[in-house]
Amino acid sequence: MARPGKKSSEPFRKLSWKELKRSAYIFKFVKPYKWHFIIGMLLLTISSLVFMAFPGAAGEMANVANKQPKYPQYHLKVLDFAWIFLGIVLIQGIASYIKTILFARVSEKGMADVRSAVFGKMIRQDMTYFEQFRVGELTSRLTSDIEKLQSAFSVTLGEFLRQIVILISGIGILVYFNPKLSMIMLMTFPIIVVLAMVFGSKIKKLSKVRQEKIATSNTVVDEVFQAFTTVKAYANEWFEETRYSKSLQDIVTVSLRFAHSKGLFFIFMTVFLFGGIFFVLIQGALLVESGEMQVGDLFSFIIYTGIIGSAIAGLGSLYTEIAGAVGATERISEILQRDTEIDATPPTEAEKVRFKGAIEWQNVHFTYPKRPDMEVLKGISIKVQPGEKIALAGQSGSGKSTIMSLLLRFYEPSSGHIMVDGKDATSYNLTAYRQNFAIVPQDVVLFGGSIKENIAYGLPNATDERIIEAAKQANAWDFILSFPQGLDTIVGDRGTRLSGGQRQRIAIARAILKDPAILLLDEATSSLDAESERVVQEALDRLMENRTSIIIAHRLATIKNVDKIYVIESGEVIESGTHLELSQKVGGTYNALAKLQFV
Ligand SMILES: Nc1ncnc2c1ncn2[C@@H]1O[C@H](COP(=O)(O)OP(=O)(O)O)[C@@H](O)[C@H]1O
Ligand SMILES: [Mg+2]
Repeated sequence: MARPGKKSSEPFRKLSWKELKRSAYIFKFVKPYKWHFIIGMLLLTISSLVFMAFPGAAGEMANVANKQPKYPQYHLKVLDFAWIFLGIVLIQGIASYIKTILFARVSEKGMADVRSAVFGKMIRQDMTYFEQFRVGELTSRLTSDIEKLQSAFSVTLGEFLRQIVILISGIGILVYFNPKLSMIMLMTFPIIVVLAMVFGSKIKKLSKVRQEKIATSNTVVDEVFQAFTTVKAYANEWFEETRYSKSLQDIVTVSLRFAHSKGLFFIFMTVFLFGGIFFVLIQGALLVESGEMQVGDLFSFIIYTGIIGSAIAGLGSLYTEIAGAVGATERISEILQRDTEIDATPPTEAEKVRFKGAIEWQNVHFTYPKRPDMEVLKGISIKVQPGEKIALAGQSGSGKSTIMSLLLRFYEPSSGHIMVDGKDATSYNLTAYRQNFAIVPQDVVLFGGSIKENIAYGLPNATDERIIEAAKQANAWDFILSFPQGLDTIVGDRGTRLSGGQRQRIAIARAILKDPAILLLDEATSSLDAESERVVQEALDRLMENRTSIIIAHRLATIKNVDKIYVIESGEVIESGTHLELSQKVGGTYNALAKLQFV
């Protein structure tokens, strides 16, 4: 899959105006702190200019020492320069201290705002959005992309300005005071700089390849650690070790090539850069010899040249960083400017609803956006009265979970309607709508916190009494009490420190606490052993009392008592009726299944 943002890390890529304009959007987040930023930039300009006075002052000091002052009217002695230098250093220090603090404000506060805005937008996207990315890619939007921005606002933009100020003022000073030697220098150095940039971009490309190889190798580690049990169970340590060594070998190969080019680059720089410097130096010495220039001026000229040279060298890498930040900004703005699935505003009092629980799928057709050539639902029509319990049975892959997803409005039907309490589902405020549902899935994934927090997820401000009551009804209280920390027991990453049946009962307690109008059970007991299933089923029966419930189950015993069973096959309802009706139907699919399961 083409990863977004791949091109942004290319060295010396051209930034287009369009990109710059689009990423200017991010300044919206800096606006509240704009004075911090502007004052910081001003201080930076001032301190850079003050810094640029230093070589001039040093040169004049040499002239004074040489008894040839350029400005005899000031009667300066050598020691007077100590005060000038002290002044320069003090102004520099204070300005850069204040600037650092101001920029930190902008980058920390502004980027915290960006982060929470991006996160907020992301979690309000619809299912299709999440399906198209790997989880790692989404997190890297929040981490590495925003870090790039953060360093842009705290360091890079400021440094960029500083180097530009140094470059322009430095060349200005040189041309003003030593026009002849400056011309010689300006004709020599740009050529070297251009050569260095061309060479440098080759090296950067290699460095990028190296980064990619490192990333690939890290993926191996990530995958192995995540699927550790699988690796162990298949005794594939050896296989993984080989896979990892191979990726390390790739890194070594590229790194060695990288080092080789870097070495060549160093030779190149030494020869040409120092060659250039010596050349200009000799020209300067000739000027001094012929009396056209003073020794102190040559001295300051050399220092200015050095400063300008390093400013130019610095601009290259700053430019790359800024290009990276622009790329990151673009990806972030793209997210921020997306439409969200859920209305940004919480439902108004008028929009809040509590469903009675009448549901009707009216000839619903559906195709997953990611798999456009396969129709998953082919005209589903099911009607549920308030408080009724219905079950969906059928082979895996027949479309049962999809029927639920559509009811939850994770996706829109391609055609047909879903009516809830007599009105089209889409006519309700989405948040208000979903607040009526609770779902207990087959694989319950818990959040990393405590049992209590996980149950309270159904009703965030519930009292302890209600949480305990819910845990009791979910048949979870006994096992919770058996833990030394009780409700405060930490469930581990994704709940892995609990057994499947325990997680299931936490999820049921969560649903009980939420007290939903409509309950959805998607194979909630399928992965449990007989004993756990009995306890969980008991809890589920309690939860289903007096509410519309839709149950997907493999084991027909669990759906024997529902009001109506729908048998789904390839996205169609092929049979419906009570357990009794269906099991008496000669040649029926359900009948055949039932015969297999109830021996
Ligand atoms: N997010 C998805 N994107 C594309 N296809 C999907 C997606 N989820 C399920 N499917 C496909 O839709 C069909 C029905 O899946 P599902 O409703 O999960 O079946 P069931 O719950 O009956 O086992 C399957 O062929 C499955 O591969
Ligand atoms: Mg399913």
